[in-house]
Amino acid sequence: MRPGRHVTLIGPSGSGKTTILRLLMTLETPDSGTIQVNGDRLFPAAERERREARKKIGMVFQQFNLFPNMTVLRNLTEAPVRVLGLSPDEAEQRARDLLDLVGLADRTDARPSQLSGGQQQRVAIARALAMRPQVLLLDEVTSALDPELVAGVLDVLRDIATTTDITMLCVTHEMNFARDISDEVMMFDSGKVIESGPPEKIFSGAEHERTREFLGAVL
Ligand SMILES: Nc1ncnc2c1ncn2[C@@H]1O[C@H](COP(=O)(O)OP(=O)(O)OP(=O)(O)O)[C@@H](O)[C@H]1O
Ligand SMILES: [Mg+2]
Repeated sequence: MRPGRHVTLIGPSGSGKTTILRLLMTLETPDSGTIQVNGDRLFPAAERERREARKKIGMVFQQFNLFPNMTVLRNLTEAPVRVLGLSPDEAEQRARDLLDLVGLADRTDARPSQLSGGQQQRVAIARALAMRPQVLLLDEVTSALDPELVAGVLDVLRDIATTTDITMLCVTHEMNFARDISDEVMMFDSGKVIESGPPEKIFSGAEHERTREFLGAVL
């Protein structure tokens, strides 16, 4: 996939969307086949090589998964200091810049439990960006949010899509968002990509009956 490309994965429940992201995040191991990201091998690869490749990939989950016992700021500085070897000052500066980007510059000292779901998810996005990923994996990041909080999170993602060259791979049921930001939409069914193309083609002129049926149900 070219750098900066935005791809949306759609398809019915159980079709393998999350599994693909988890494989890329090395949270799952494939039984066979190879996986490369921007030329770096993830599978098969020596542990060291995989770890290096893995550093270039960030993921945001439906359920935020913030460190509950750390402040917002520390959630963002922990991995850059430990994994990337940034100095605490450098990590903190980067964290503050990112919290500014996601509109939470005033909540650095809060604990995750003191934030709304939408705020927690924006922290989770900032935390992923703090690792300077080349590739960002987003798995239904607005699905657990109250409806009125969804727009704020999507705005942040739109911002990232338009102002950075981070490659985004996004599982979402927000079809308007997908239409706006995607270069390509991939339709999954039973573990396979059955159809892919630019959003205007998939959303208005899908070739597969299965795709039309799915979109008919969710749009
Ligand atoms: N390690 C694995 N090996 C084989 N099959 C798996 C593995 N992990 C998950 N699966 C199966 O793959 C299928 C796809 O699951 P997955 O969670 O990727 O679907 P999904 O498209 O994300 O669905 P949803 O929209 O509900 O989140 C499921 O039937 C699941 O049980
Ligand atoms: Mg899933």
